[in-house]
Amino acid sequence: MQAREDLLSLDGTGIGILEHSHRGKAFLKVYEQTVALCRELGNIPDDYEVLFLQGGASSQFFMIPMSFLTPETTADYWVTGAWSEKAVEECKRFGIAHTACTGKESNYSQIPTAANYSDKPVYVHYTSNNTIFGTQFRSEPEIPADAFLVCDASSDIFSRPIDVKKHGIIYAGAQKNLGPSGVTLVIIRKDLVERAAKDLPTMLQYRTHAKNESMYNTPPTFGIYIMGQVFQWIKDQGGLAALAKHNEEKAGRLYKYLETSRLFRATASPDSRSQMNVTFVTGNEDLDKKFIAKATQAGLDGLKGHRSVGGMRASIYNAFPTAGVDRLVEVMREFEAATK
Ligand SMILES: Cc1ncc(COP(=O)(O)O)c(C=O)c1O
Repeated sequence: MQAREDLLSLDGTGIGILEHSHRGKAFLKVYEQTVALCRELGNIPDDYEVLFLQGGASSQFFMIPMSFLTPETTADYWVTGAWSEKAVEECKRFGIAHTACTGKESNYSQIPTAANYSDKPVYVHYTSNNTIFGTQFRSEPEIPADAFLVCDASSDIFSRPIDVKKHGIIYAGAQKNLGPSGVTLVIIRKDLVERAAKDLPTMLQYRTHAKNESMYNTPPTFGIYIMGQVFQWIKDQGGLAALAKHNEEKAGRLYKYLETSRLFRATASPDSRSQMNVTFVTGNEDLDKKFIAKATQAGLDGLKGHRSVGGMRASIYNAFPTAGVDRLVEVMREFEAATK
């Protein structure tokens, strides 16, 4: 509602959010409020920068190794799915990418329980929620003392409290839990901004964006605005702890049914199940297809699983209502009852 109004006239200015200059007072207020809410909700200490960058989370896959590695130094990766595989590939362009552990043998149905770190990793990278495979870390991995921890939190950012202090960098494309595509939230410790390589194109240095409050060039103003609205919504829900409880309860309804179903089963191991992406199969591709068609007819769209996993995936991000999960379970029950 607020966004609809602000598209036409932001804050009573008679000029819409899409038309305001990013240098103008009206947008600067939006920017400041968005950063302040982000800091408040995420409990982000003062020695961290909050940046709004472009190029998606995918650009962080290269920007991080490019900033912190040399061809002789190593970064360690928890390889827990397709996105971490991609991050590893980009790392190899700039330094040594060491796979500290991988869940590949189980088709990424489980988060490994231990890692085999290299001698002196500069940083350790993990993907907190694996969007495609429906797995999620329960807590941050422990890392060697001299390394800093990097988290790709693209698909579970702000779905639960996050201990920022344990991390050097947290990044997330906004499009799952924070707002529209086109803006990437980067939370980075200030000493790392200073430490990062200086011989890089200006736009690819964190310091450029930190020094210029994410406005070295024209930032994705609408994305930042919507992020601010989403932060306010999260605050109104009671903040991240309240949202975490709600998400656990919401996903729990679907997993509970999956545990008792004779037809459907969850693909992720119980200790690694995601509260954002619930992946499940019938074990029969034809039945999967029939179920997806039936669910689509019932108004439940987008359930087809990623092609690398098959089956179904229910993406139930922060904004997805519990009533939607209840409806999905109802349609699954009906389908199960009709399937002999
Ligand atoms: C965990 C994870 N990392 C990275 C990405 C890539 O993000 P982007 O499309 O913003 O580059 C995605 C996209 O779905 C994702 O789920």
